Amino acid sequence: METNQIGVIGLAVMGSNLALNMADHGYQVSIYNRTYSVGEKVVADNPHEKLHLYQSIQDFVKSLELPRKIVLMVKAGNAVDKVIEELLPLLDKGDIIMDGGNSNFKDTIRRTKDIESQGFRYLGVGISGGEEGARKGPAIMPGGSKDAYAFVKDILEDISAKYKGEPCANYMGTDGAGHYVKMVHNGIEYADMQLIAESYSILKHVGGFSNDEIGDIFTEWNQGELESFLIEITAQIFKEIDPQSGKHMVDVILDTAGQKGTGKWTAEEALNTGTDASLLASSVFARFMSSQKSARVYAESSFDIHFDLPKINDKKAFIETVRQALYTSKIIAYAQGFDLLANAGKEYGWDLDFGTIARTFREGCIIRASFLNRISDAYNNNSSLSNLMLDDSFKNQLIDYHQSLRDIICTSMQFGISLPAFTTAISYFDAYRTGRSSANLIQAQRDLFGAHTFERVDMEGSFHHEWNDNNA
Ligand code: 6PG
Repeated sequence: METNQIGVIGLAVMGSNLALNMADHGYQVSIYNRTYSVGEKVVADNPHEKLHLYQSIQDFVKSLELPRKIVLMVKAGNAVDKVIEELLPLLDKGDIIMDGGNSNFKDTIRRTKDIESQGFRYLGVGISGGEEGARKGPAIMPGGSKDAYAFVKDILEDISAKYKGEPCANYMGTDGAGHYVKMVHNGIEYADMQLIAESYSILKHVGGFSNDEIGDIFTEWNQGELESFLIEITAQIFKEIDPQSGKHMVDVILDTAGQKGTGKWTAEEALNTGTDASLLASSVFARFMSSQKSARVYAESSFDIHFDLPKINDKKAFIETVRQALYTSKIIAYAQGFDLLANAGKEYGWDLDFGTIARTFREGCIIRASFLNRISDAYNNNSSLSNLMLDDSFKNQLIDYHQSLRDIICTSMQFGISLPAFTTAISYFDAYRTGRSSANLIQAQRDLFGAHTFERVDMEGSFHHEWNDNNA
């Protein structure tokens, strides 16, 4: 019986696609789903000689060679714990469970400790690329013990996306490191998407461009330094017509953005690790604001403020300014994401390799972009780079482009366009490059009302000042 090389539990679209991907790469794959009919449909729709469906979890487990390698593709949260509980009594010591869902890294740390203390092996595996990625090659971010990873390295590399032949599957670090990196990937994904949405807003409301023209602009941007999966699909979206109404699809979609939580976790982690990831967080807040549809509609009619569209004389120059603003903000978003990873490494004891992380993101995942090559180069040139913005190539580009971001923000704000991510990006940049900030005043206030003490610019130590009430 024990002949199949890998098993997948959970046959919703991500799980079944991943299993088919494994089968395509020559692996004998056991598959199991709690509701058997779901598995039957997968097999009926995708007949594959290397895919083996089992009705009972016992038979599924028995079908696997030792040490067993089982990927869980179930909904993050309690469902993962439930499957693990069911699975453990059926396994042998040394068997490997991999959680391929978007689990919270804290759950992964807990599960790793618990499961490994019982003699089994556990990996938290971040997987990105959506349905198509799972089927054709996702980016894979495994975390856990190196010993467990050694058993599955070849399979994960085989099924992963390849960048010029190099697998986009790399070991990230112990316990929750893989899921943490995936979480930050999603935080950056939120920022990338919000920045693109704000560019759309500017092109539409300030530039007065039509959907078709905006589609063409994104198509052109995708030929240059902004080339990425998200820009590519954005261009595609603007060309799409709704068969029901005959209107552009983008115009019939309600403007409330959903979210499943990984962006929010990233923002929480920024707070937990003391990282300024304000752009990433602002993209999460923007989704919250988007969901207040009725409040926004009411407020629009309550605040009777109207602006006439500006006259853009040089459309080409305007488009280029928006493009540079978007690229500048993108550099800042990634700088924040990698800064968060650096702080998380210190906080949770992970030896994260930022060059490897950037290389893993180059293909298969949602944020894949040519841009990732530059990040990879930046960390290859200097693995202890303190902030991505300080890499010479990014630094020079920020010097060249930052004015465009300022210009487009000023123009757009005069016409009442909300740009939470763009404005946060420039504020972060300016805060980061300000050697003497205004926090001295905050320290003075804290000391005055709470004797919290302060440090001085001219001598070492901690000081309290007897503030003079008469000055009030
Ligand atoms: C990926 C994606 C994926 C995520 C979706 C939806 O890397 O393949 O990040 O993991 O679940 O993008 O995320 P939201 O529903 O939170 O937007």
